[in-house]
Amino acid sequence: MNNKAYFKDKVIIITGASGGIGRAAALAFARCKAKVVLAARNKEKLESLKEEILGQGGLALAIKTDICSFSDTQGMARETILKWGRIDILIANAGQYVQDAPGEIDLQAYERSLAVNFMGTLHAVKSVLPEMLRRGQGHIVVMNSLDAKKGIVGDGPYVAAKAALDGFGDVLRQELTGKGIGVTAIYPGRVDTAMIRHIKVPWISPKMSPEKVVGAIMRGVKRGKAVVVVPRAFSLLAPLNNMFPRLMDRAFRVLRIEGKMIRDQEEVGRDKNK
Ligand SMILES: NC(=O)c1ccc[n+]([C@@H]2O[C@H](COP(=O)([O-])OP(=O)(O)OC[C@H]3O[C@@H](n4cnc5c(N)ncnc54)[C@H](OP(=O)(O)O)[C@@H]3O)[C@@H](O)[C@H]2O)c1
Repeated sequence: MNNKAYFKDKVIIITGASGGIGRAAALAFARCKAKVVLAARNKEKLESLKEEILGQGGLALAIKTDICSFSDTQGMARETILKWGRIDILIANAGQYVQDAPGEIDLQAYERSLAVNFMGTLHAVKSVLPEMLRRGQGHIVVMNSLDAKKGIVGDGPYVAAKAALDGFGDVLRQELTGKGIGVTAIYPGRVDTAMIRHIKVPWISPKMSPEKVVGAIMRGVKRGKAVVVVPRAFSLLAPLNNMFPRLMDRAFRVLRIEGKMIRDQEEVGRDKNK
């Protein structure tokens, strides 16, 4: 079945719809004639995206939501049901890239990252579940990251939260099996969005377009996939890291796969040239 036939009329909540992957997902689902609910904190950006979708003949609802607040995500689910009567799909996508200096273990950064990337996702999922369970139908997409499968130096707070989400998604899928609700966890490599604009990436892990990730989300939902890694070749990362962790550490060091800022790398380059 093509995307349009599959997603037409589906009520789809997308958290983090004000930018990056979430925005691209909203536009793509709206083109398939889905009813998209745009959730994020920046109301202006949501309203402007809503206007863009309406202008293209699509259907959209903008709901200002901070996923760190459970009452906000409950409101998001309530408003959606009031407007469109049900929730077919949740794309739990909102997130933040929280880093700290290697070895620092910045407690506030860890708390912040867990609050948004982990607890925020739980809030969104817990808010839509009662309605999906009542109907015995629905699909939840948990946006993760390949960083959950192999830690990156400098990304401790982000990696820890995404690794917690990895466990949550795995349990959730099993707990909802047989209840009519599918769970798909998405693990992208690096994506060309504002989130990692300050990061310079090596040739081995180039930034892909948000649209590529959206294509993977759509295929994952349609096929009821448990796990989607994008690009697919990176599926080897987790098993390789389990078998040869130190070798993988070394490979990451040599290939310069790290959470370093462009500014830092430029400074390193300048130092070398001195
Ligand atoms: N970019 C990458 O390389 C990459 C790779 C793997 C996975 N991912 C994951 O993909 C997801 C989307 O990231 P992106 O690359 O599209 O980043 P982005 O362009 O920075 O977008 C992040 C989105 O999350 C929203 N958000 C942040 N904090 C929020 C909060 N407390 N409540 C509600 N919404 C919040 C932002 O909207 P507001 O600021 O308006 O709230 C924004 O819409 C994230 O979960 C990220 O971890 C990204």
